[in-house]
Amino acid sequence: MGKRLDQTRAPYYDAVMEYIKKGRTAFHMPGHARGRIVPQELIDFFGENMYLGDLTEVQGLDYLHKPEGVIKEAQEIAADAFGADQSFFLVNGSTIGVIAMMMAAVNPHEKIILQRNTHRSAIAGLVLGQMEPVFIQTRFHPELNMMTGITPADLRDTIRANPTAKAVLLTCPNYFGMSENTEELIKIARANNLTVLVDEAHGVHLHFHPDLPVSAVDLRADMVVQSLHKTMPSLTQTSILHLNGTLIDPRRVQTLLSYLQSSSPNYLFMVSMDCARRLFALNGEEILDRAIETADKARNRIKTLQHLYSFREEVIDDKTICSFDPTKLTICVKNAGYTGYEVEPILNDKFNIEIELADLNNILCFITAGNTDQDIDHLFEALQYLDKNPREVVDKNITKLPRIPNSILDPWEVFSMKPITQEFEHADGEIAYEVIAPYPPGIAYVVPGEIITQEVVDLVTELRAKGSVVQGVSPDNEVKIVKY
Ligand SMILES: Cc1ncc(COP(=O)(O)O)c(C=O)c1O
Repeated sequence: MGKRLDQTRAPYYDAVMEYIKKGRTAFHMPGHARGRIVPQELIDFFGENMYLGDLTEVQGLDYLHKPEGVIKEAQEIAADAFGADQSFFLVNGSTIGVIAMMMAAVNPHEKIILQRNTHRSAIAGLVLGQMEPVFIQTRFHPELNMMTGITPADLRDTIRANPTAKAVLLTCPNYFGMSENTEELIKIARANNLTVLVDEAHGVHLHFHPDLPVSAVDLRADMVVQSLHKTMPSLTQTSILHLNGTLIDPRRVQTLLSYLQSSSPNYLFMVSMDCARRLFALNGEEILDRAIETADKARNRIKTLQHLYSFREEVIDDKTICSFDPTKLTICVKNAGYTGYEVEPILNDKFNIEIELADLNNILCFITAGNTDQDIDHLFEALQYLDKNPREVVDKNITKLPRIPNSILDPWEVFSMKPITQEFEHADGEIAYEVIAPYPPGIAYVVPGEIITQEVVDLVTELRAKGSVVQGVSPDNEVKIVKY
């Protein structure tokens, strides 16, 4: 892949292994004393080695918040592997990366443009960074009943109406593997002097295979956050923040990450990132070939079923969906008369299968090279069962998104106010204290500071009746509001 640095190296892993071999007598954290006082059941299951590797800032292992040795080297090799100018390891997930990149690009009281289908970490960024959000309504796919992305025209119009905005935060690809026209969106933002931030939490693998949607890192977005743990073999909570160009000062990013992340970063996490990067830099294309092939085997078998459906490139519409990642296997169950919510427990309890996500019309399976033909046989057996046992199809579609409500206060202003509880069915016209979002996928219908409309009350009530969990509305049908 035309790399400058030696991708066969994993300097952080090597340093940790070397350090463990020294067998030093330890008088420091963590309190398990290198696995000597650990609940026996944990040693029995995880083994001693996990504890030996659970180190802290000891000689030769560098410090994440001021990297000058092996962590610096490992991050440089990672930047080279992913095609970025500079990369930062994250030990608190992409959640922290999204907040940090927003705060690196936008100062308090400045405007930031965001897609409405942003992750909740961006709402945290708005609160912590005291920013003024400008949301772009996400397009909606009525047949699949899901949010897709935004179009270049959507962004152009929003910038025209908000000429003082400092940055745009794109969320791409979406959970289901759909990518919008990132190239054009970045061009438009650039032409209008906006800093381009991309939440690519679901796309850390994209750079490593030519047939997958192009990564925003390769498109030279100013900052991109990716979750290594989502689609690469790396431990949960491991993510990476990439920086390109000179618009953002890397020292500001480093400082923000030091404010936001634990001062005791998990060393197993960093070993895991170093080795996952090496594996993908050396063998990513072949590994992803296997994942794509396995996903396609599943798709081909699903085609033989009468009621179930799984899309591939045909979902591309060249407006909001411009490329597609086939390792995301979405199965639409609507025509079998089920909701995704109903299918999930059947898969869990009857077939011992766990999926990534269920929504109203679909279930989503993440396919990796770790999935075998037997896994696909097993999944297909379950899907066949659903296909042969259809239910009466009633229209379960929620055919629209609510309009983005008017905002009275910014989310950070609401955060400092005292919330009061209100019956949801009578919340029309009140100011929301919390995000109200059907979950999954957790995309906000209402953001703190926005007016709860009757349209939202009606849609949420309908969704809940169909089995959706809605964050921000309690089981007793109450919401938190503020008076202003
Ligand atoms: C689009 C998006 N961004 C950010 C995140 C946060 O990622 P993490 O779990 O690595 O903190 C998620 C998590 O699901 C996500 O879906």
